[in-house]
Amino acid sequence: MKAIILAGGSGSRLYPLTQVSSKQLQAVFDKPMIYYPLTVLIASGVREFCLISTPDDVPRYKKLLGNGQQWGISVEYREQAKPEGIAQAFLIAADFIGLDSVTLMLGDNIFSGGDDFPRAVSNFDGGATIFAYHVKDPQRYGVVEFDRNGKAVSIEEKPRQPKSSYAVPGVYIYDNDVVEIARAVKPSARGELEITDVNLEYLRRGKLQVRRLSRGFAWLDAGTSTALHEASAYIEAIERRQGVKIGCPEEAALVRGFLSVDQFEALIEKMPSCEYSDYLRSVADEWRRLKWEKQ
Ligand code: TTP
Repeated sequence: MKAIILAGGSGSRLYPLTQVSSKQLQAVFDKPMIYYPLTVLIASGVREFCLISTPDDVPRYKKLLGNGQQWGISVEYREQAKPEGIAQAFLIAADFIGLDSVTLMLGDNIFSGGDDFPRAVSNFDGGATIFAYHVKDPQRYGVVEFDRNGKAVSIEEKPRQPKSSYAVPGVYIYDNDVVEIARAVKPSARGELEITDVNLEYLRRGKLQVRRLSRGFAWLDAGTSTALHEASAYIEAIERRQGVKIGCPEEAALVRGFLSVDQFEALIEKMPSCEYSDYLRSVADEWRRLKWEKQ
């Protein structure tokens, strides 16, 4: 399984923050926003990444993430000249996808709690898997309607009269047919290649699975100043209460076995003294202690 993180767009709702930097590089409490989706994907066992952003912002992501080797992953970069739709990602990254299946994640979606994604990635056996999350304001999203047996029967993009309260979050798992399906999608009335049209084609083919995310699961979107502030406050509250961080790619890479504890500690040595490196040091100490106790 490969993964694309889509981190372009205009970020107009976050003006003036986005005048000089991409939305997905803004801070969500103590880390850049992009760390959160990246960490979820590493925790799901994905090692090969393609990051898509604007021509202006790709160099900034390269500075932050490099080629990924430091975390035991690989990161390639592609540019999206204009924000012409989420489904365009599959055309831009077709050569990266090759013959593999691929997860697409939006760079401004923040998830916390549960093992829904790692399970969905490891159980994936073709077609498409998308998710459904109960929200108060479904009309802002793609909305999925279920029949009495819990089977998805329709998806509508930003409907005025939503048929359910289940929105589709920005994470989608596809088999390799997605490239051919995205190539056939026509721009919508707003001039975008809509991801909902890709999902509708899988639905039409009888190959769409929609998994409902559990209640305790948090899906935050950080597209407006208020939402960004709320996401930061949420992450801060959980981290302070539990003493564990959400969205640390280094920690996820250690837990997944992409990094040895020696490599993990070598990474910390290169960091300045700060709360982030202090936290990672405590993770390394705990890791060594548990290993020692097991012996
Ligand atoms: P949006 O939040 O819908 O759009 P935006 O980021 O351009 O923000 P605004 O509405 O404030 O102008 O996009 C959802 C996510 O998808 C976000 O992470 C940006 C990304 N995206 C792209 O990278 N390319 C695209 O063509 C589109 C439509 C979205």
